Amino acid sequence: MQLETVVETNADPEENLLFYLRKTLYLTGTKYACGGGGCGACTVMLSRYDSKTKKIHHSPATACLVPVCSLHGTAVTTVEGVGSIKTRVHPVQERLAKCHGTQCGFCSPGMVMSIYTLLRNHPEPTPAQITEALGGNLCRCTGYRPIVESGTTFSAKSTVCQLKGTGKCCMDQEERSFVDKPRKICTKLYNEDEFQPFDPSQEPIFPPELIRMAEDPNKRRLTFQGKRNTWIIPASLDDVLELKANFPKAPLVMGNTVVGPSIKVNDAYYPVFIYPRGLPELHFVDTTDDGVTIGAGYSLAQLKDALLFTVSEQPQEKTKTFHALLKHLRTLAGPQIRNMATLGGHVVSRPNFSDLNPILAAGNAIINLRSKEGERKIPINGDFLEKSPEADLKPEEIVLSVYIPYSTQWDFVWGLRQAQRQENDFAIVNAGMSVKFEDGTNTIKDLKMFFGSVAPTQVSATQTCKQLIGRQWDDHMLSDACRLVLEDIYIPPDAKGGMVEYRRTLIISLLFKFYLKVQRGLNKIDPQKFPNIPEKFMSVLEDFPIETPQGLQMFECVNPYQLPQDPVGRPVMHQSAIKHTTGEAVFCDDMPSIAQELFLAPVTSTRAHAKIMSIDTSQALAIPGVVDVITAEDVPGDNNHLGEILYAQDKVICVGQIVCTVAADTYAHAKEAAQKVKIAYEDIEPRIITIEQALQHNSFLSVEKKIEQGNVELAFSNVDQIIEGVVHVEGQEHFYMETQTILAIPKHEDKEMVLHLGTQYPTHVQEFVAAALNIPRNRIACHMKRAGGAFGGKVTKPALLGAICAVAAYKTGCPVQFLLERDSDMLITAGRHPLYGKYKIGFMNNGEIKAADVEYYVNGGCTPDESEMVVEFLVLKSENAYHIPNFRCRGRPCKTNLPSNTSFRGFGFPQATVVAETYITAVASQCNLLPEEVKEINMYKTISKTAYKQTFNPEPLRKCWKECLEKSSFYARKVEAEEFNKKNYWKKRGLATVPMKFSIATPKAYQNQAAALVHIYLDGSVLVAHGGCEIGQGLYTKMIQVASRELNIPRSYIHTCETNTATVPNASFTAGSMGTDINGKAVQNACQILMSRLQPVIRRNPKGKWEDWIQTAFQESISLSATGYFKGYQTNMDWEKEEGDAFPYYVYGAACSEVEVDCLTGAHKLLRTDIFIDAAFSINPAIDIGQIEGGFVQGMGLYTIEELKYSPDGVLYSRGPDDYKIPTVTEIPEEIYVTLVRSRNPIAIYSSKGLGEAGMFLGSSVLFAINDAVTAARRERGLTKTFTLNSPATPETIRMSCVDQFTDMIPKDDPSTFTPWSIRVS
Ligand SMILES: Cc1cc2nc3c(=O)[nH]c(=O)nc-3n(C[C@H](O)[C@H](O)[C@H](O)COP(=O)(O)OP(=O)(O)OC[C@H]3O[C@@H](n4cnc5c(N)ncnc54)[C@H](O)[C@@H]3O)c2cc1C
Ligand code: FES
Ligand code: FES
Repeated sequence: MQLETVVETNADPEENLLFYLRKTLYLTGTKYACGGGGCGACTVMLSRYDSKTKKIHHSPATACLVPVCSLHGTAVTTVEGVGSIKTRVHPVQERLAKCHGTQCGFCSPGMVMSIYTLLRNHPEPTPAQITEALGGNLCRCTGYRPIVESGTTFSAKSTVCQLKGTGKCCMDQEERSFVDKPRKICTKLYNEDEFQPFDPSQEPIFPPELIRMAEDPNKRRLTFQGKRNTWIIPASLDDVLELKANFPKAPLVMGNTVVGPSIKVNDAYYPVFIYPRGLPELHFVDTTDDGVTIGAGYSLAQLKDALLFTVSEQPQEKTKTFHALLKHLRTLAGPQIRNMATLGGHVVSRPNFSDLNPILAAGNAIINLRSKEGERKIPINGDFLEKSPEADLKPEEIVLSVYIPYSTQWDFVWGLRQAQRQENDFAIVNAGMSVKFEDGTNTIKDLKMFFGSVAPTQVSATQTCKQLIGRQWDDHMLSDACRLVLEDIYIPPDAKGGMVEYRRTLIISLLFKFYLKVQRGLNKIDPQKFPNIPEKFMSVLEDFPIETPQGLQMFECVNPYQLPQDPVGRPVMHQSAIKHTTGEAVFCDDMPSIAQELFLAPVTSTRAHAKIMSIDTSQALAIPGVVDVITAEDVPGDNNHLGEILYAQDKVICVGQIVCTVAADTYAHAKEAAQKVKIAYEDIEPRIITIEQALQHNSFLSVEKKIEQGNVELAFSNVDQIIEGVVHVEGQEHFYMETQTILAIPKHEDKEMVLHLGTQYPTHVQEFVAAALNIPRNRIACHMKRAGGAFGGKVTKPALLGAICAVAAYKTGCPVQFLLERDSDMLITAGRHPLYGKYKIGFMNNGEIKAADVEYYVNGGCTPDESEMVVEFLVLKSENAYHIPNFRCRGRPCKTNLPSNTSFRGFGFPQATVVAETYITAVASQCNLLPEEVKEINMYKTISKTAYKQTFNPEPLRKCWKECLEKSSFYARKVEAEEFNKKNYWKKRGLATVPMKFSIATPKAYQNQAAALVHIYLDGSVLVAHGGCEIGQGLYTKMIQVASRELNIPRSYIHTCETNTATVPNASFTAGSMGTDINGKAVQNACQILMSRLQPVIRRNPKGKWEDWIQTAFQESISLSATGYFKGYQTNMDWEKEEGDAFPYYVYGAACSEVEVDCLTGAHKLLRTDIFIDAAFSINPAIDIGQIEGGFVQGMGLYTIEELKYSPDGVLYSRGPDDYKIPTVTEIPEEIYVTLVRSRNPIAIYSSKGLGEAGMFLGSSVLFAINDAVTAARRERGLTKTFTLNSPATPETIRMSCVDQFTDMIPKDDPSTFTPWSIRVS
């Protein structure tokens, strides 16, 4: 630790730093969120002294992949070592908090560590360096913009709030009038003047004893003996060779980014580890006349620096391989992994997705090997990549270095890759290609093509290359090359990883890109001799650049006469923000361990629908430390409450259903034992996975929900045109950063049970636990301090998991902790409902829609959960902003054998409205109009009634829509995009603006009630409690703002500690965007009661202080505690009559997005987004804007890159950040402008609006902008028929929609002849 020496005499070779920090040193600031290096939540800084260069290297690392034994001689800095509330908050922590870069706070310590490490190396980083440094850190809440902004405050010329390109500061309100002039508009969400200066000289020094250790000339071999294995740190290179000779099977652990995951994921066991990382013989760069040799111990980050140096020194023609490597080194994994992983480890491990190996092979790189026997060289070639034994290392050999030769003028080397996400994602297909020409000609002398992710190993298109030698580099050669390479590299239709046709297309699309690049290169050498590529093709040569996102946020300033102490309307920082950034905010798994605590690991079903024939727990119970196995038999009460099954009994109904749990003294023991439980199944028919299958089997979770107005059939007979279509919207994983974690403590007295957990609905947990234990609810106390993100995923599921955990605690009599690892969390808890929508639309030739008949089916999974309510919501909300006089909408949840889907931000609206926007777009296409014109025509215009007959005034909708179109210069930019599209064949731009009418709360009035409890203590301090849960959305902060205004005291007097079923009973869920609305009213009510009691005292002593009044009140026996209550919005919905005042009010908005699409790869870049949202009066603009931006980015993820993959048998493949891609800092808009539009909403507290979910749907502007771009590509290729882009618009979907000669060329498989690897479940 920084400033603290840790001597660990029993270091276990299999223990990683993350768990050592958290469980041995109790340093819980470093978080667990995935355990596989993919999320950055566990980022720490490692500092090592290089005795050769005499320099200290600071590098970020993901602690979950760092073995503790590898830290001998290393200084580790965790977030606790950076700063603390108890000592000094570091400027990085302070600025991240004050710039509103933290919401739930679970990612924040990792963000701090990434920025801090960068600052240690570059005290004045450029914005590009900041963006790069954050590429390996996931945040599910903020949308990244404020995080980047906090980092750029350290840049020499801070670009914060600089409008891109203009150089003008956005603080200059007069210059930047996006909204009406008469109102005073603020753009400052924080005040930089409050920031402490950053003084790099004040950072702690590197421990001198570690320098002495590193410089010790008499190094000895070090051995750490663990329970199962030995960790050896050799003293010298000879020692490594000796060890390798003695233990040929022992891995050489370098970055541990392959060895570590192989232990975690594949249960690999290694008796001996050799760790030679620090050896100077593996760390060097040697430049000769013909190339550069780089030591195998260089990390990929150091490799990048070495290559950068070489390209700066050498002429470009010599460094083509280096340039190709550098391009991939920017996006390969994240910075943490790039700093940990080594060149040697990368080259030797040869995963089929390796980004560097194909380029090294194309560039004729050579591996220098060493063993006790001597030295040897092997080429990195096809045989090596294909792991042919003759071309491989011998077990006793090690890689000393890699030699990369220079290219010549007539050599061309290039690397290409396409992934779901631009950075930190394995390639879907990658390639390294090179061609050597006869000097002065375009005659191929040598050709090399290597492809990754197309087979179990990387492969060489050897036959193709052979046959093309001697050919001219021209279009004929290209067409033969494409044909040949598809014969050479065959991806079978059922190949692992799926996307078969896409991957086949990518192979030849990447080849085509290479062809163009080389042709362009030849033309540059001799323009007379070699023709250039068409101007229209030029733009596709370059990948999309990674820019530093920029933005501007506009909101109404508070009234200048408002008391400075009154925080309402001000951008107040999240009340836990500093604690988040210092790592001192306590999440459930951060709580200190309790005596006798046990850990629970689940055993889940591997079959989708099967009878349980037997459960054999004997081997599991034999594992040391195992206390018990808990099954359905052990549930004293209700194992099936409201249709939700705790432990499977007799049969399983989905893969991932919990069959039993194992309780043990450590999690490792529980997990090991869980793997030993043997369950025998007998499959039951039918097994229903998809909506289509559910419809075939008439399998539903509830009856149909319908609303209808007008006469739909009659209207269809009177329209100019009718179109029909279907739309698929796939599901989404919540990917809250904190996985579900529960601590259940049995009290041994009166059957009481206390639970600590992150939930949006403690009442529900209490209900389920009480039902499972068969005891009254008054014995169950649920404590909810905070959740590291929830997004709907912690409404119902914690009740089920809480009950499972409570049963284990009840049975064992011990406190039980139940933490779901990321893969289990994703498997068990499910997410957003996949939707299948059908529509029939009747419209006039001018775009006016007269009739719509819409049907929705959602995949609800195996139990009811909230599927019926989701369908109700999507039926009610489906019309969005459009008035269709004859409208029929029906919906039904399908019962399938998938884990039960649940609530998710937007609750059906984000799926339903894709259908609405799709048919609007289709109508526009049929009428030859822009979709925006059709939207305008059909949008609600005056005070109207919804399809379910609720009256509303759409004025704010019109305003947001109009301002969005105007201020984004939509029509002008649309013309520019069209111009761009005319000039570019393979890249297309698209724009879309979507309007939004989003409702908050629920049609069941009782669900909208809330209560609060406010105490005033005798020192004047105030404790506010209410039924709402803090899930990162800033609810507690807003409640303190409300109490501060109502009690007329500064915020510093007020505290909110947690939400607790014992304090506020029967609270409703914190969801539906109504947390602030309903709890705010309850807190307001409690405060007003207290103030009315205090009034006589204040009147008598008007100049007195708050503390005096409280003392006096107490002495006069005035109660200083009050409950506040809000009866709830009086909503209703009569499904029989199909009408009601279903929602208290609507939030309106509009968003315009512009994208650029690469038609050859399917990649897209989000160039700009403008959001206008009707916030009425924002209680806290920083929090509201944070919700909008975060929701937008989460929505963007839903509609573009987030893709859950299921096997035809219902097995979820996507179980972690490696195979489920949420947006990173690279995906967010290059420019994002958010404006809170003022309106009135007297029904809600301080005339505010609930904004927690609204931003989500606005992300669909990206989907429809992509649609626009793809449509432009299709039109150019002669495809004018209206087409539908399903959600998500992944690179695969985009590429395969941009039909061209390459998609036509690939072999198509007959679906009846094979079983695909994955299927669509919507
Ligand atoms: C989250 C994550 C994301 C990733 N993303 C990408 C990506 O986008 N693209 C990509 O290409 N790769 C990616 N990778 C893979 C990464 O590049 C490799 O894991 C890494 O390069 C391996 O290096 P290492 O030093 O960590 O190997 P280690 O795990 O230390 O070792 C791996 C193997 O190599 C052997 N070995 C190591 N060094 C030597 C040597 N000098 N001589 C002989 N044998 C040796 C070891 O015995 C072991 O078998 C990712 C990995 C992770 C964890
Ligand atoms: S927990 Fe280590 S990277 Fe996710
Ligand atoms: S604040 Fe980043 S994950 Fe919640």
